[in-house]
Amino acid sequence: MTTIQGATIWLTGASSGIGLALAEQLAAKGAKLILTARSTQTLEALAERLPGEHQVLSLDLSKPEEAVRNAATALGEQKIDILINNAGVSQRSLALDTEFQVYRDLMEINYFSVVALSKWVAPRMVEQGHGCIVSVSSVAGKVATKRRSGYSGAKFAVIGFMDALRAELKASNVHCLTVCPGFVHTQIAHNALVADGSRLGQADPDNAGGISAEQCAQEIVRAIEQRRDEIVVGKGLSKIAPWLQRVAPGLLRNMIAKRD
Ligand SMILES: NC(=O)c1ccc[n+]([C@@H]2O[C@H](COP(=O)([O-])OP(=O)(O)OC[C@H]3O[C@@H](n4cnc5c(N)ncnc54)[C@H](OP(=O)(O)O)[C@@H]3O)[C@@H](O)[C@H]2O)c1
Repeated sequence: MTTIQGATIWLTGASSGIGLALAEQLAAKGAKLILTARSTQTLEALAERLPGEHQVLSLDLSKPEEAVRNAATALGEQKIDILINNAGVSQRSLALDTEFQVYRDLMEINYFSVVALSKWVAPRMVEQGHGCIVSVSSVAGKVATKRRSGYSGAKFAVIGFMDALRAELKASNVHCLTVCPGFVHTQIAHNALVADGSRLGQADPDNAGGISAEQCAQEIVRAIEQRRDEIVVGKGLSKIAPWLQRVAPGLLRNMIAKRD
């Protein structure tokens, strides 16, 4: 069992959606948070209103190496018990229309930032004899659907990275949790990249009909406490899709191809 009370938790994507709900729930349980995103003012206001003492660390995770250098300067030797790699950006564009640079951008924020932050904190966790690294992938990291070729590629990669890291860190008592949410009602579609790299700028009925960010966060917190390896969070088809892919892959592929 992992205890949240008193733990120092570095949380990325803390300014919105699932990360914001995680910040609220973790602070309510007595964690000391390091809040990361680009929106400094939003993070400062959040740190102010949450119970307890928290730190704001503004970083642009689309430049992972620079982000790690800035984090190293700001955090120094500070103890980190739990890292939650939650920041991410989705996609809504067909592969044949999408500029190559969009694929690189989606990999930087969704995959390379996870690798960079995890590689920076993991040696400290090994040295202190405990720790937890959480990475928020997606059901799209297990089952790819239309208009998400770059996003799915990055989220599949996160699962592979986390599976290998878990095996390598098991003997060091560092717990690795991969989270695969289905549809969650957040700003994710609004912020999703389209073919030319600009933002979609509108909601999406699938996400709007998903579970709440609060419910998703509750399940993530429970999985951290219970030291689970991987969880799929959501409802309806988006929750059962990974299972369906294992038991009836042809059926699921046909269903996905027929959906717009
Ligand atoms: N919502 C869903 O249906 C769903 C489903 C599966 C997986 N997920 C995953 O869940 C995670 C959280 O997404 P969400 O739904 O909560 O979306 P969201 O409401 O759009 O929040 C995304 C967060 O990521 C941060 N972020 C984006 N680009 C960044 C950058 N370059 N540098 C630093 N921070 C950055 C944003 O902060 P700033 O803009 O302030 O930088 C924001 O805090 C993501 O990894 C997403 O892929 C979501």
